[in-house]
Amino acid sequence: MTTTMESLIGLVNRIQRACTVLGDYGGGDNTLSSLWEALPSVAVVGGQSSGKSSVLESIVGRDFLPRGSGIVTRRPLVLQLHKTDDGSQEYAEFLHLPRRKFTDFSLVRKEIQDETDRMTGKTKQISPVPIHLSIYSPNVVNLTLIDLPGLTKVAVEGQPESIVEDIESMVRSYVEKPNSIILAISPANQDIATSDAIKLSREVDPSGDRTFGVLTKLDLMDKGTNALDVLEGRSYRLQHPWVGIVNRSQADINKNVDMIVARRKEREYFATSPDYGHLSSKMGSEYLAKLLSKQLESVIRARIPSITSLINKSIDELESEMDHLGRPIAVDAGAQLYTILELCRAFERIFKEHLDGGRAGGDR
Ligand code: GDP
Ligand code: NA
Ligand code: MG
Repeated sequence: MTTTMESLIGLVNRIQRACTVLGDYGGGDNTLSSLWEALPSVAVVGGQSSGKSSVLESIVGRDFLPRGSGIVTRRPLVLQLHKTDDGSQEYAEFLHLPRRKFTDFSLVRKEIQDETDRMTGKTKQISPVPIHLSIYSPNVVNLTLIDLPGLTKVAVEGQPESIVEDIESMVRSYVEKPNSIILAISPANQDIATSDAIKLSREVDPSGDRTFGVLTKLDLMDKGTNALDVLEGRSYRLQHPWVGIVNRSQADINKNVDMIVARRKEREYFATSPDYGHLSSKMGSEYLAKLLSKQLESVIRARIPSITSLINKSIDELESEMDHLGRPIAVDAGAQLYTILELCRAFERIFKEHLDGGRAGGDR
């Protein structure tokens, strides 16, 4: 990715973040929400325990999400990755805990669990109120990822009967947005014809333009069977090629197998597999992360003109809003608006430089 693209995406990412903070002050401003919607985010969809949280963790390259059997993810988690380039330490920050920097990612996991329980109690109930988390790191791409509760077929003890539909409409509200890139997760040890992920993504994205099919749990298939029909697109054809994944098993999680070891094992699995060896360069979580960032770049490239005009509009509106802002009541909101304004101006400046550079000598 070019540096200009990276800095433009990074800026819009920060604008989105500032808009989210401002949203907390009740600023349901239209321009700000259109700004938020202008950039793609990646949402996971799939059945319960299909491996959604595990795949997201692999993309980020850190252990920090609650995972396990049964219903673990019970609130949407909007995860913004911000690429830093100042060599500073990786840290995470929650919207509901401003000014607290988490450098220990096991505490991030605990806070997600605690914050989920704060809204729903230690139950098996769900809440549509998202948790917002930002990770600042030199090792990520600027990207918004959304972890969602898994689709289910029946309510279990302690859940209201409506839970099946509640989860589906919550997930649908994220994946039906045209700016949403869908990670449709299906486990390889279940028949693809029964995949909830494929069913829902086909409904909201019939052309398959924004759906990425991910097949997890290849290591758990019955001996003597393989997933080549799916991975090679014969069972269910998608616009983008299927990506096979081997995440950590529950036993690995219990043994605290770390991300680097897990990625190495996944690479070895594909490289030495008699079934998938010929596909090994296009399999695994690292490949998936690269594929997503390429997709992100091309979507953003296509949207730069509309983002730029939105940002210009925002600058005008924010400037007049700043003029009218009553001081004492809205000091924090004012500071946030000011931040957004500054970020928008930076975007405009870099974009102009990019255009000038483009005229002078092409995309460098
Ligand atoms: P989610 O409910 O879809 O978010 O799924 P999780 O990521 O929480 O995973 C559910 C369970 O499946 C956990 O115990 C994971 O360790 C296990 N799991 C996920 N993916 C794989 C995989 O590729 N292979 C194996 N063996 N286990 C997996
Ligand atoms: Na689960
Ligand atoms: Mg989960």
